[in-house]
Formats: sequence, structure tokens, C-alpha cells
Amino acid sequence: MSKRILVVGLACADIISVVQDYPEEDSDQRVLDYYWQRGGNAANTSCVLSLLGARSEFLGTFATDREAEFLKEVFQKYNVITENCVTYTDGVKTPTSIVITNSKNGSRTILHHGKNWPEIKPEHFKNLDLTQYKWIHFEGRPSCDDIKDMLLWIDEYNKTVDKDARIRTSLEIEKTTRIGLDNLFNTADTLFVSKDYVKSRGYNTKEEGVQKLSVKCREGSEIICPWGEEGAVAMGTDGILHSSPAFSPKLSPGQNMETLAAGDTFNAAFILSRSKGQSLNEALTFGCQVAGSKCGMKGIDGLD
Ligand code: ADP
Ligand code: FRU
Repeated sequence: MSKRILVVGLACADIISVVQDYPEEDSDQRVLDYYWQRGGNAANTSCVLSLLGARSEFLGTFATDREAEFLKEVFQKYNVITENCVTYTDGVKTPTSIVITNSKNGSRTILHHGKNWPEIKPEHFKNLDLTQYKWIHFEGRPSCDDIKDMLLWIDEYNKTVDKDARIRTSLEIEKTTRIGLDNLFNTADTLFVSKDYVKSRGYNTKEEGVQKLSVKCREGSEIICPWGEEGAVAMGTDGILHSSPAFSPKLSPGQNMETLAAGDTFNAAFILSRSKGQSLNEALTFGCQVAGSKCGMKGIDGLD
């Protein structure tokens, strides 16, 4: 059986309203559509990986409320393994995002609640049988020290196995306020940095961001920066800047764009491509193609 790709991070409930026009404060309007969807970067990425044909596992924490039941059903539907997840029974509430999707341009405005959410801890992670995995991806959650600990654990494991059995690691640095993530650039083989993060650190373009931040990465690693409608760039061990344009989705008349989880989809497609041994350029292009297709559909069904 093929080895798994593990994605560590958040599963939350996205409660989505699709609006005709972006609402004004204190207004009252009817929405075009309303639905619940699985959310959280790691949950989204693991589901896309499965749709694209990978053996995909999600590692995160669950509560015991209605939202958690919903999420577990979704993972089952997408054939994502959740057997190592941890359930908290002491009254914590599943994180939720109220998402406003603007039908005019596909923008997504996210109002997230995840206060005091218990994250996966190194002691949970260290129970995993690492021989089962070929790639482990971490969402850059607030628990930065724990993420570092888990990545170091994988490094130690990799020292004990043959080169072709080593696990490749990746880390997404997205949120600008998680200062501890600044210190994790040298802990993974593949770094995904977001447009918001790059801008918040004073760089104006994806090219500048990747060039400047690449010096913080460890030897042999690669850094990738997706940038919405401008596609994505990457820099690998050759020190050359690789880039891919975005691919506009094919929309039928009256169909809406939806960019929610485009970045998570990009990461999944990129990881899958690299895990199959494809080049940095191929992975970048595949990531943009799959993320572009996602923007032309509601959710992720249809990516398979
Ligand atoms: P997010 O904001 O969800 O983290 P990004 O804006 O960084 O995601 O976009 C990730 C990838 O999704 C981009 O590199 C691009 O390939 C694709 N993408 C995003 N928005 C669009 C769009 N409007 N049209 C086509 N592709 C897009
Ligand atoms: C999209 C997403 C949503 C979730 C939010 C959490 O990337 O994972 O599904 O509500 O981000 O920040």
C-alpha cells in the first residue's frame, strides 16, 4: 500500500453565506445561498489531497458537538484517515468561521472563532508510526514551539532511515500575527509563505518575498509563495526564481467565482506533485491549475 501524506492542523466548520453584493454594516438583505462546509487549512488540504488520489490523513483535534460530528462525516465522505485525531470531551467548542462569499468577485471574508482551541501536542504526534508517511505538512498554527518540536522529531527519525524512506516536511506560514512562526523557517523542507505574511514583513512582491525570506530557510529546502490572481513563485536549491501564472477558471454564464480555500488547494496540489517526484516548476504549475479550477466551483467537489 502506498505511503500516506499527513496534514497536521485545524478542522473547523465554515458557515457560508453567498451574497449578491458585499453587505453594508447594519443592513438587512437576502443571501443567494447558505451552507456549511468543512474548513480549516489542514482539513481543506487533506480533503483535496484525497480527491486528487493521495492516501491522505488529517491530524487534529475534535470536540464532541454537532459541528464535530459534521466534520467527521465530511472526512469520511472524502476518504481522509482521521484515526490518530484526538477528541476533547471537556466542553470545548469546535472552531467556526462565518464566511461571506461575494458572488461578484469570489472574495471571501472570514470571521473566525477558535478561542482556547486545544491543538495537537508533540506527545500525540510522537505516538504516530512514522514509517507510514512519505510527507508531513503542518499548518502554521499558534502552537509554534510544539510545531518545531514535531518537525525536529521527524528530522531525528529521518536520520535513522535510508534516503528513500525519509519523510519530506512542509510548513505553511500564513498568519501575520503568529510571531513564533518567524523562527520556523529553518525547520522544514518546503515552506509556503502567504501574500499577507510577505507584505506584513515589508516586501512588496512575491518575488522579493521569496528571495529575501529564502535566506532564512535551511539548506536543501524550497520556498513557495502563492499570490492570488498573480499565480505563484518558488525558489529551490538552484537559487533560481520559478514562477507560474494563475489559471482563470472556466465559468459558465451566471456562475460565481469562489476563492475560499484556494490557497489550501494550491498547497495540496503542490505537495502531491512534489511527492511524486515532479519538478518545482511542474508542482508550481499544477498547484496553480488545480487552485484555479477550484475558484470556478462551489467547494472542492469536482477537483477529482
Ligand atoms: P488564499 O488567499 O486562499 O490563501 P491565494 O490568494 O494565495 O490563496 O491563492 C492561492 C492560489 O490560488 C494562487 O496561487 C492561484 O493559483 C489561485 N487563485 C487564487 N485566486 C485566483 C483567481 N481569482 N483566479 C485564478 N486563480 C486564483
Ligand atoms: C481557508 C480557511 C477556512 C477557514 C479559515 C480559517 O483557508 O481554512 O476554511 O474558515 O481559513 O482561518
